[in-house]
Amino acid sequence: MSAPSPADLLPLAGRHVVLGVTGSIAAYKAADLCSRLRQLGAAVEVVMTPAAARFVTPLTFQALTGRAVVVDVFAADEAEAHVEVARRADAFVVAPATADCLANLASGQTPDMVALTGLATRAPLLVAPAMDNQMWEHPATRANVETLRERGVHFVGPGEGRLASGRVGPGRLAEPAEIAGAVRAMLGQVIGDLRGRHVVVSAGPTQEPIDPVRFVGNHSSGRMGFAIAEAARDRGARVTLVAGPVAPETPYAVERVAAPTVAEMLCALEKATASADALIMAAAPVDFRPLDPAAQKLKKLPGQETLTIRLGKNPDILATLPGPRVRVGFAAETENLAANAVAKLAAKRLDFIVGNDVTAPGSGFGTETNEVTIFYAGGTVEQLPLMSKYAVAHAILDRVAARL
Ligand code: PMT
Repeated sequence: MSAPSPADLLPLAGRHVVLGVTGSIAAYKAADLCSRLRQLGAAVEVVMTPAAARFVTPLTFQALTGRAVVVDVFAADEAEAHVEVARRADAFVVAPATADCLANLASGQTPDMVALTGLATRAPLLVAPAMDNQMWEHPATRANVETLRERGVHFVGPGEGRLASGRVGPGRLAEPAEIAGAVRAMLGQVIGDLRGRHVVVSAGPTQEPIDPVRFVGNHSSGRMGFAIAEAARDRGARVTLVAGPVAPETPYAVERVAAPTVAEMLCALEKATASADALIMAAAPVDFRPLDPAAQKLKKLPGQETLTIRLGKNPDILATLPGPRVRVGFAAETENLAANAVAKLAAKRLDFIVGNDVTAPGSGFGTETNEVTIFYAGGTVEQLPLMSKYAVAHAILDRVAARL
């Protein structure tokens, strides 16, 4: 699997996901999951057990997918329909999966359309269990989970918390956003072109303390780096995301390391890149830090009109790190983009640098989109159109993958 084209930017575009829904009170969350998978670009087809259809009507899923929902193994229109659904799948996701469903999948019994699809498909299978904690912890369920794991079945959740029975414990269906992330990660691990690779990404600003409540920082939101981490995960890479203090949630299956200052970012990246294949440095580390951060909050003194803070140079992280094999930097500029980017490309020993005119509309800090120019070590220059940061991420990863 390589990058989607700019016109085809959604993470699950071109993928056919079959969603199996079984009879749990959590079945209502499957409607949200179904909608999310559609929004991510997937074609979604739903199969349900008769018990699931008592919790949520097939019509709900039919409306969300625009496709007929199969509940009755014998009521399908097309010949051999019960196995045709299984054959169409690029991924089979069972959410929620009851204890009964796990038992059927493990034993190969096919009393309903979900179990039957599980047996008939050759697509990768992701299971999101949901049940009471006593059922989840029962040796029979443990054994079924073990059998399925040994067969290569992927699991997401269950989470811990309040259950429908009123008890507290493991058994809550994973959140739909998490399950959608797990589908993307699973497809990457099965067909992604970065399978077996370790990609390290940095994101966000650093915050260099002036005193315990103030800092020197910048406007980086982390979006560009997080998009690269997600895209690399979607292509099967193991991803370490070294991030400054930013709001976005950690993408599913991405290892996040917090790095609030340049010193901490350097330390985290030294560790992470020791075993990595590629480093993509989208963070905006602060170049100068207050040399004498105050131990207590600085106070305005009577009559004081100015405050002088002495700044000292931070280490250049990219220039300091020896590896890894493929090194990519960004250049955030407000003028002379090409000259500045090319100078950084050489000084930081990069394969290529992604030039970012942060004054251009729709580009740079905090935006959903970015328009970048790539400058290569050999002297070639490539201008890319304005695209979503996720699409820019894939464009960068195409060029990284070609160098690995
Ligand atoms: O986070 P967003 O809101 O999505 O915004 C994205 C972005 C604009 C921050 C991003 O696309 C970007 O351009 N990141 C690089 C910002 C930057 O610090 O540029 P620079 O030209 O100052 O640094 C050049 C390169 O050296 C960068 O890869 C930077 O990570 C790295 N660097 C900088 C300083 C330092 N002390 N050590 C470094 O390694």
